[in-house]
Amino acid sequence: MCGIIGVATKNKQAISILLEGLEHLQYRGYDSAGIAFIHNNGIQIIKSQGQIEALKQKVDLTINSNLGIGHTRWATHGRATTNNAHPHQCGKITIVHNGIIENYLTLKEELQQKGCVFQSDTDTEVACALLDDYYAQYQDMKQTIRQFMKAIQGSYAIAAICMDEPNTIYAIKKDSPLLIGTSSNQNFIASDIQAILMHTNHYYLLDDLEFAIITADSTLFYNQDGIEIMKEEKEASLSANSASKACYEHYMLKEIYEQPTTLKATIETVTKLLKTNTSLLSRLASYKRIDIVACGTAMHAGLVGKYLLETYAHIPVSVELASEYRYKQNFLDPQVLVIIVSQSGETADSLAALKMVKEKHIPTLGIVNVVDSCIARSVDYVIYTQAGPEIAVASTKAYTAQVICLSLLAFSIAKQKNLLAETQIEMIEKDFEQLPELISALLANRDDYKQIATNLYSHSDIFYLGRGLDYALMQEGSLKLKEISYIHSECYPAGELKHGTISLITEKTPVIASATNSILDDKTISNLKETAARGAPIYLITNNVSLSNDPSITKYILLPSTTDFVLPILVSIPLQLIAYETALVKGCSIDKPRNLAKSVTVE
Ligand code: AGP
Ligand code: GLU
Repeated sequence: MCGIIGVATKNKQAISILLEGLEHLQYRGYDSAGIAFIHNNGIQIIKSQGQIEALKQKVDLTINSNLGIGHTRWATHGRATTNNAHPHQCGKITIVHNGIIENYLTLKEELQQKGCVFQSDTDTEVACALLDDYYAQYQDMKQTIRQFMKAIQGSYAIAAICMDEPNTIYAIKKDSPLLIGTSSNQNFIASDIQAILMHTNHYYLLDDLEFAIITADSTLFYNQDGIEIMKEEKEASLSANSASKACYEHYMLKEIYEQPTTLKATIETVTKLLKTNTSLLSRLASYKRIDIVACGTAMHAGLVGKYLLETYAHIPVSVELASEYRYKQNFLDPQVLVIIVSQSGETADSLAALKMVKEKHIPTLGIVNVVDSCIARSVDYVIYTQAGPEIAVASTKAYTAQVICLSLLAFSIAKQKNLLAETQIEMIEKDFEQLPELISALLANRDDYKQIATNLYSHSDIFYLGRGLDYALMQEGSLKLKEISYIHSECYPAGELKHGTISLITEKTPVIASATNSILDDKTISNLKETAARGAPIYLITNNVSLSNDPSITKYILLPSTTDFVLPILVSIPLQLIAYETALVKGCSIDKPRNLAKSVTVE
């Protein structure tokens, strides 16, 4: 959600650096884009509604410039129009902003009373006007920023240029990500490292209520009192092509096909961590309850974790949506562990819930994909999933990496508590080892999913059903389909349908289900038959060969027989491919679905 890029360079190539940076930030999600750059002792602003291509059409790439800032906007305040797009300019100040200024209405009124006239509907323009108002008083940007931080409520990552200092970019941060990249003859500011990887992998992370002053040959950091601070330089292990699409038609497809590798890496790393850090494992095993807090797909990974941790490690688990958790009674005490699951490590709802938990001194563990992200840095202990950069908005490989992490946690804690027999342990370990191969075999049957997609794509409602672990997995399957194919779908526990929702079932509502639990399978099949009796075509994922003779099932996807610890991954692969192929037949924008953002950095 929203991307910020800025560069101060001696190479005069600021404009192309900004445009290229914005292209690499697109995956975060946006609806308009713009740049501002220094040219002929003035500042030129170019912006456009829609895709970056539209912005590029308006830009003269032959113009030389040594400094500029750029933005992809995901509208929160005001429609996604060119006028509301960033950068915004008031007097001597030009800014781009990520976040929400919560007290913008009060500030706007105060500024209007002083004669300020606003051109857009955004909260950002108010922030810009406030900076300009303080600058008019203090004639000093450091003092201006300090006052600004005191006056503003909400979240912000801001890159600002003051016309009196055309060689300098000011970066200000609270609750939205911002980093400062360094290289010889040029320095950068960016929402994430992907935007500048082709120039440098050296960077500093700005923390909340800090600001930075950036020129082509210097980067200085300050706290909110205006005192200079030293920061640790970091080096990203990613390279510019770690996030390329390779030969795949979409990032999502590439990411689905990367899963044998990403899961192998995650299994190896997490197994090693839990084996070597015995004190961590005994601590994890000692909690009386776990709250898993996350959003969207990451929350769905939590549901799988709940099943495995409760069933095998005997720890009660509550899975909570971060946006709700923060505002409810949670009965927390130091015997409760809070696990935050997040691909980006930036999700504002999850971060806010984490802050609330930390204020109460409750132990926290993060399962995070992006190294050094806000959540990774704020938790007491972090386990990194090894999914690599995930560019498609719809999460696939990050989800399965989160699931396998939770599965390894459940397995290790169960072992630690002596809850598993030797033979079980051997079988589970063998399953983890074989998982990459099992996934590769499933991925080889792409044609099966293409065929299912041709049956599904014209429908406007699809039902996902399952019981127990299958229900947890179907919730993610249903979300995946909605996100990228725009087909409405509902996910229900198979046994609950008859309590009301079955009224919606007709021959026009295909049902996708999984039945992978020998104790529950018969019950699930009975529920599926109830839908077949009302004409619904049924697509069933199962590892139970005996179910494949049932004539009421339209199509089967047969999985190998495994333990519950890897089974969730095997069920997920067909669900991902069904969603992908259906969206493909419909001609949807698969990697960047409408209205969605990869990193949801506003609450
Ligand atoms: C995934 O397909 C979604 N786009 C979304 O639900 C996502 O999982 C959610 O916003 C949480 O993101 P995070 O893992 O980066 O915290
Ligand atoms: N709240 C600002 C706006 O609506 C910034 C949104 C963003 O983060 O892109 O313009």
